Amino acid sequence: MTDIRGFIFDLDGVITDTAELHYQSWKVVADAEGLPFTREDNEQLRGVSRRESLERLLKDRPMDEAKKLDIMTRKNDIYREKLKTITPDDLLPGVRTFIDQARARGIKIGLGSASRNAREVLGSLGVTALFDALGDGHSVVNTKPAPDLFVWVAGRLDLNPAQVIVFEDAEAGVDAAKAGGFKSVGIGHANVSHADFVLELGLKDITLQRLLDIFKPKGA
Ligand code: BG6
Ligand code: MG
Repeated sequence: MTDIRGFIFDLDGVITDTAELHYQSWKVVADAEGLPFTREDNEQLRGVSRRESLERLLKDRPMDEAKKLDIMTRKNDIYREKLKTITPDDLLPGVRTFIDQARARGIKIGLGSASRNAREVLGSLGVTALFDALGDGHSVVNTKPAPDLFVWVAGRLDLNPAQVIVFEDAEAGVDAAKAGGFKSVGIGHANVSHADFVLELGLKDITLQRLLDIFKPKGA
């Protein structure tokens, strides 16, 4: 085992909780298109790209590309309106302290989010300057559960995956971390039990030192 030198955080569900805003936005277009969609369905969309979310909403219903683009644009327009309400108060509890302490210890900080709105959300939360590298929905072609985004961010941090812990609230995100050879911490109540360690209540539930102790190389 290698010493931990970096953290990569997912955004939605780890740093802030935008799942409800995504749900409300998809719900408007789903209702307009006659597509069944519940809050429970929305849980399955955590960490899933915008396009793949639409494919899951459609199930097997055929639709041409122009119409798909129209629906994705409408959903995103609604979502971006809702993002205007985000302020630093929307940082999830414990996040700011945890990242501040990690930076003070020299741990590099990266973002690994599937969202194409991630930079704007980080800006509204007032935490952009805390990140050494930003990976978002524009950074790579293959989305989670492919490891590409986290590998891309680790490269920008100049670290190997084995030196990095990924923090994720989504099954697809933990899958991506594991596929890339990263350590992983699952956050929340979705299907993240395959992570190396799970924090059901989020980052407020642990100190930096305790987390580093958990991932300390054996015998160190
Ligand atoms: C992820 C969210 O962070 O970003 C997903 O968990 C969302 O729900 C995905 O679909 C893409 O986001 P956006 O902002 O590009 O539509
Ligand atoms: Mg997430």
